Amino acid sequence: MKRVFWLLSGLNRRMMKLLFALALIAYIACEYIDLILLSIQENGDVKIEQKIDEAVAPLREKIRDLEQSFSQKYPPVKFLSEKDRKRILITGGAGFVGSHLTDKLMMDGHELTVVDNFFTGRKRNVEHWIGHENFELINHDVVEPLYIEVDQIYHLASPASPPNYMYNPIKTLKTNTIGTLNMLGLAKRVGARLLLASTSEVYGDPEVHPQNEEYWGHVNPIGPRACYDEGKRVAETMCYAYMKQEGVEVRVARIFNTFGSRMHMNDGRVVSNFILQALQGEPLTVYGTGSQTRAFQYVSDLVNGLVLLMNSNISSPVNLGNPEEHTILDFFSPPVNMLSSVPKRIRLNPNAYRGRAVSRSQIQFLSEAQDDPQRRRPDIRKAKMMLGWEPVVPLEEGLNKTIQYFSRELEHQANNQYIPKPKAARMKKGRPRHN
Ligand SMILES: NC(=O)c1ccc[n+]([C@@H]2O[C@H](COP(=O)([O-])OP(=O)(O)OC[C@H]3O[C@@H](n4cnc5c(N)ncnc54)[C@H](O)[C@@H]3O)[C@@H](O)[C@H]2O)c1
Repeated sequence: MKRVFWLLSGLNRRMMKLLFALALIAYIACEYIDLILLSIQENGDVKIEQKIDEAVAPLREKIRDLEQSFSQKYPPVKFLSEKDRKRILITGGAGFVGSHLTDKLMMDGHELTVVDNFFTGRKRNVEHWIGHENFELINHDVVEPLYIEVDQIYHLASPASPPNYMYNPIKTLKTNTIGTLNMLGLAKRVGARLLLASTSEVYGDPEVHPQNEEYWGHVNPIGPRACYDEGKRVAETMCYAYMKQEGVEVRVARIFNTFGSRMHMNDGRVVSNFILQALQGEPLTVYGTGSQTRAFQYVSDLVNGLVLLMNSNISSPVNLGNPEEHTILDFFSPPVNMLSSVPKRIRLNPNAYRGRAVSRSQIQFLSEAQDDPQRRRPDIRKAKMMLGWEPVVPLEEGLNKTIQYFSRELEHQANNQYIPKPKAARMKKGRPRHN
């Protein structure tokens, strides 16, 4: 019996040792497996972290860009007290004239809302204000009603150059009629004053020279320019109906030819055509004999006149233009000789006219455009007397600045830098949409 116990206890001791050894091995194996699992997980984590970093990097860059744009320097803006600061709406404010007007009113310290459908305007014209606390840009078509609170409305929305307003005549009519009604309705509702950007085209091909505000005009109501000319005439009629019937305060500026930076490269009018042709060494195209006259004002003069008129108490129409009259051919001979302003650094075309007098052989004479006015010159005595306004920028100086602007744009294009082209004058495909 004793022997049996001894055997069993001996077996137990060996079993115990064996069991202990097995337990130790199992423990070590578990630890090892844990270590392996941990390292696999860590490797996975590192890869995931790398992937997250890669995905987040562009977002971080975007945030940095946004932060930089928030700290962007804006042109200097005056501080106006609550009493003097106005809430101003500019329709067509991303266009040529509208963007210069935006600059002036922003710098004067007002709160601006620019409304534009970007038919001929560009965001680029006002992008230097985007993000400013006094500035808001709304993509909106004035043919649709607009509900905002404002004190003054500069109503400029309308294509202005013949290729642009003839591109979709029905839309031009709607913009100038329904669009103007909508803006007058808004002015009535909120008690705002409205200034209409009318045009010298309301005088048509004038029989009176120079044209004063009393002249009723000589317009072909069914010609190719009628959508614009008659559109603006009825827009004026609407202004005075709202003034008489609803007591809306209106101002009407009859604007004559204006030029300057930010005008459309493919505007199709004399100044832009000649500058582009000269800079690119192409033949200079003159419609008709070139003896028809035009008077051009620089855009800063017009903008000053618009602001003076808006803040005046003159509710009848006022001409704003430069009375210095030139024939088209004058552009190529002293003292204007605009080509003398083409900068020497322009190397776009070695055969460019650059500073040389132009011979008639370099001019390509084309047939006269239908209903093209023969003589155009504003009588600005009213603006002088009642607003104390007259143009101060000489034609040569304005041309020089505009040539610099166009040559910079062409250089950008030559360097393949992105320049959004004005969307005007697209060719029609099929039936046009009259939205
Ligand atoms: N530039 C001139 O020589 C001249 C001469 C006489 C009158 N005007 C008048 O001055 C105003 C501005 O002319 P501009 O030379 O700056 O022309 P522009 O084409 O550069 O500007 C017109 C602006 O109105 C916008 N617009 C057009 N239709 C619109 C619509 N339905 N809704 C919203 N926005 C619309 C365009 O996108 C553009 O930004 C126009 O009313 C024009 O008739 C200009």
